[in-house]
Amino acid sequence: MNRPIAALAAFVLTAAISACGGASQAGPQASADGTGAAQPPAAGAATPDPRPADAAALPRVIVHKDPNCGCCSLWAEHMRRDGFEVELRDVDDLAAVRERAGVPAAKASCHTALVGDYFVEGHVPAADVRRLLAERPDALGITAPGMPLGSPGMEMPNGRTDAYSVELVHDDGSTTEFARHGE
Ligand code: CU
Ligand code: CU
Repeated sequence: MNRPIAALAAFVLTAAISACGGASQAGPQASADGTGAAQPPAAGAATPDPRPADAAALPRVIVHKDPNCGCCSLWAEHMRRDGFEVELRDVDDLAAVRERAGVPAAKASCHTALVGDYFVEGHVPAADVRRLLAERPDALGITAPGMPLGSPGMEMPNGRTDAYSVELVHDDGSTTEFARHGE
């Protein structure tokens, strides 16, 4: 990634996480107090869920998010529409979740999902998650760093879509491009 794009990504991340209401979660200085236990979602929530027949074969998507993040829930809806079963967990310390999962701090977004043996960080398209599960690369997970405009859950009213990469995160924390979206 070249410098101008990195700077832009950092700016977009900052702006979008503010919009998300989860500003305190963005930095490495996020609160370390573990008093707020994650709330399990209400069982049997009455969301219309017309899932395709292969839903049973897909691992459940467990989304760790800030309680005030709206775009995180929109991403969860995107995954449900694609056929995934999704569980939302509100957490106070997303940085700790990321660290446990192996998400490099520089590749963070607004939510961290666990899917099978992998993490899925941020607004990754469902098709990429399906490909990850089908190809089963030797890696920790995939991430769409920052909050790319136009990515699933980040759709803009004016239809704007930024070009962005989904990156594969290897065991040593290094990354390679997994998919490219936008123009
Ligand atoms: Cu977001
Ligand atoms: Cu999010």
